[in-house]
Amino acid sequence: MLNRSKSNSFFEEAMRVTPYGVSSNYRYYGDEESVVVADAKGGYLYDFDGNKFIDYRLGWGPVLVGHGDEFVNDRVKEAIDHGVSFAGTQKYEVSVCERIIDLCPGVEMARLANTGTECTMHAIRLARGTTGRELVLKFEGSYHGAHDTVMWSTMGASLDAVGDRRRPHPVGNSLGVPKAFNDLIVLCPWNDEEVLGEILNEKGDQIAAIIVEPMLGNANALIPDESFLPYLRQVCDQYGIVLIFDEVKTGFRIAPGGAREFFGVIPDLSTYAKAMGNGFPVAAFGGKKEIMMNLKYGGVFQGGTYTGNVVSTAAADAVLQLIQEDKVFPKIEKHGMLLQDGIKEICARHGVPVSINGAPGMFGICFSEKQPRDWRELKTIPNWTLSEKIYEYMNNNGVMPEKGGIEPFFVCAAHSDADAEETLTRFEEGLKLALGD
Ligand SMILES: Cc1ncc(COP(=O)(O)O)c(C=O)c1O
Repeated sequence: MLNRSKSNSFFEEAMRVTPYGVSSNYRYYGDEESVVVADAKGGYLYDFDGNKFIDYRLGWGPVLVGHGDEFVNDRVKEAIDHGVSFAGTQKYEVSVCERIIDLCPGVEMARLANTGTECTMHAIRLARGTTGRELVLKFEGSYHGAHDTVMWSTMGASLDAVGDRRRPHPVGNSLGVPKAFNDLIVLCPWNDEEVLGEILNEKGDQIAAIIVEPMLGNANALIPDESFLPYLRQVCDQYGIVLIFDEVKTGFRIAPGGAREFFGVIPDLSTYAKAMGNGFPVAAFGGKKEIMMNLKYGGVFQGGTYTGNVVSTAAADAVLQLIQEDKVFPKIEKHGMLLQDGIKEICARHGVPVSINGAPGMFGICFSEKQPRDWRELKTIPNWTLSEKIYEYMNNNGVMPEKGGIEPFFVCAAHSDADAEETLTRFEEGLKLALGD
């Protein structure tokens, strides 16, 4: 067992001053189990007892290059000596938009923000303002941030509460969301063209936006059927609906141009955050110029004191430059594939069925013959007890994927071949222990 004595007393101190010791509900795993970090470098985290972990959570996605990356940090250090917040346009902001437009197919203009939540909120308002409609359609199991429009039927919702898959009920993700928001959201099972077609037949002309995680980054990185995203494009064109790819997890992570490049489907708008800042709080949304130009006085409001600030945009400028110079993806892809191939090989040797979902930089593991098709199947088909036992063992032995197994593995450019080897060794030890071998 790990010695966590100093880490636990630090967490006790945290719990005295902030509810449950965390700055986000999702981070509390228990008084003695929550992750605490004293230091981080490259692909590693260290707790207050000096325990070292190969980090595959990476802040739930943002750390793309590596913790404390010098190239990114030097760009920020150089920038902040010249002021950080101006209520005016500055050079890093423009450079970041140019790099986004260069990397992401079909993005003609972009606006900057600080978090994914802000971006999905702005993109939805922009869709409503552009279409003059109010309903928003989202898919079960996806997470689009913490604002009231989208806090419905996320990963944690109970299967008993969501109702029949042909007419799903929105299940609230939080107390305090006014009931009125319930009337503005339409739920559909992800990856189900038939049910979506029926819903749109009934109310397609009242829907402002379909917002979708093109790969289910909040649900084991499930990949849609080949026809699903093209179908979304087609029906959005048919009904005059704004198609929003929420790329907060997939953007700059599953390919340099995110899901637009990976799947070859171009939505009207995309939202970006996490990987574009290597951990600095920066986000963006962008897409078609004719829609984006509605962001103006007297039109659709978007703003924020810190949007486009120097700290975040200098970081994003460096990260996107590294991607453009092809210094990130070859490393991520190599490491991700080493892990995926190794896990498949180990499972085959032990006669355990496995399906690996997602992309090299963000992948989920399901102990089942085939990939579940959607969130409902994800909850029921894979052997989650096995995942939990293996990840628990790995976390106690220096390798840190997310314990539950629903959240994907995230890979960064600083992970080494030796890290992959150690990870696979711990994985196999955990599997053997779980199987009682
Ligand atoms: C797909 C997706 N959209 C939006 C968000 C919200 O982003 P943020 O936490 O930066 O507000 C997240 C966060 O995990 C996400 O995964």
